[in-house]
Amino acid sequence: EKGGYEYFMLKEIYEQPKAIKETLSPRVDKENHIVLDDIKLTKEDLEKINKVMIVACGTAYHAGLVGRYAIEKFAKIPVETDVASEFRYRDPFVDENTLFIAISQSGETADTLAALREAKAKGARVMAVTNVVGSRISREADDVFYTWAGPEIAVASTKAYTTQLIAMYLIALNMGIKKGTISKEKYNTVLNELKALPQKAEKLLENKQLIQELADKQFNNQNVFYIGRGIDDHVGREGSLKLKEISYIHSEAIAAGELKHGTIALIEEGTLVVALATQDHLYDKMLSNIQEVRARGAYVIAVAKEGNEEAEKAADVVIYIPDTIDELTPVLSVIPLQVFAYYVAVARGTDVDKPKNLAKSVTVE
Ligand code: M6R
Repeated sequence: EKGGYEYFMLKEIYEQPKAIKETLSPRVDKENHIVLDDIKLTKEDLEKINKVMIVACGTAYHAGLVGRYAIEKFAKIPVETDVASEFRYRDPFVDENTLFIAISQSGETADTLAALREAKAKGARVMAVTNVVGSRISREADDVFYTWAGPEIAVASTKAYTTQLIAMYLIALNMGIKKGTISKEKYNTVLNELKALPQKAEKLLENKQLIQELADKQFNNQNVFYIGRGIDDHVGREGSLKLKEISYIHSEAIAAGELKHGTIALIEEGTLVVALATQDHLYDKMLSNIQEVRARGAYVIAVAKEGNEEAEKAADVVIYIPDTIDELTPVLSVIPLQVFAYYVAVARGTDVDKPKNLAKSVTVE
């Protein structure tokens, strides 16, 4: 059932091109219209919405961070994000003009479900992004977007994340075009780029050797830091979570601009830093951050878009992702981070699919 792979996690990493395609294709017709069958939100409903709240846990929360960026950018609605375990306890401002989006692979996460119920009780319109048809979260939501990732067995979430990203982009684009906050031209560009992602992910996955070699050398670190700016920071958080949950190496992700406000004190000779530098408008700033940590002895693996070769001067090693528009890089840039975490865990001999202390679905609060 693992299809020749040693662990489900690797199999699921490799299923991503297909999962992305299956989540995307049925939602986009030949004329580039987005068809979201289980989302009944009309143009009139949307006009009422003055705030979006995205709530989730773990990896799904990280997808929510990218979702916030996409909705603010394409639909021009202010978005708040929260981890579900915190949401209820801060008495959040939620009312009938709020669109609440719960993201959950399993659709059964207790904290996310409780947050959804709270938002609903306060009158919010509730949307779910989930991978499991008929799950509790899908049943209690007003609108549902199903990610068609297929069953995800490994505790570490991979294809669920990339398909959640696709869901958030489609939701954001759909809102944007309905509200008229995105130009037709930009809308088409983003959709066409989205459609090109499965093939680009495929290409990226053909070449895992460099990453495997890096993992074989870097599996003994005590601490790993992930840095990035903008949506690269959100992807860094996901990369960091992946590494810690399956390899048991302490790691943290930080917005690169925050380094000098404290965390840089921990960078010393040989510290591994994974630097995401995929955003054109933030590229130079990232290169300076890379130089900053290298000046303190860090070993830097950078992730950059093909063609951005200046990264080679700044970092020790550069992993390239196929070129795409800046808004969509998370779908590709997370892949090398997943593969890296996977091979580090394999090198350390952990139980990759069932890491200690973790459950696939957290059904207690
Ligand atoms: O099923 P859910 O998406 O609600 O699960 C949320 C988190 O428990 C989950 O993403 C967790 O963080 C994963 N183990 C991460 O790989």
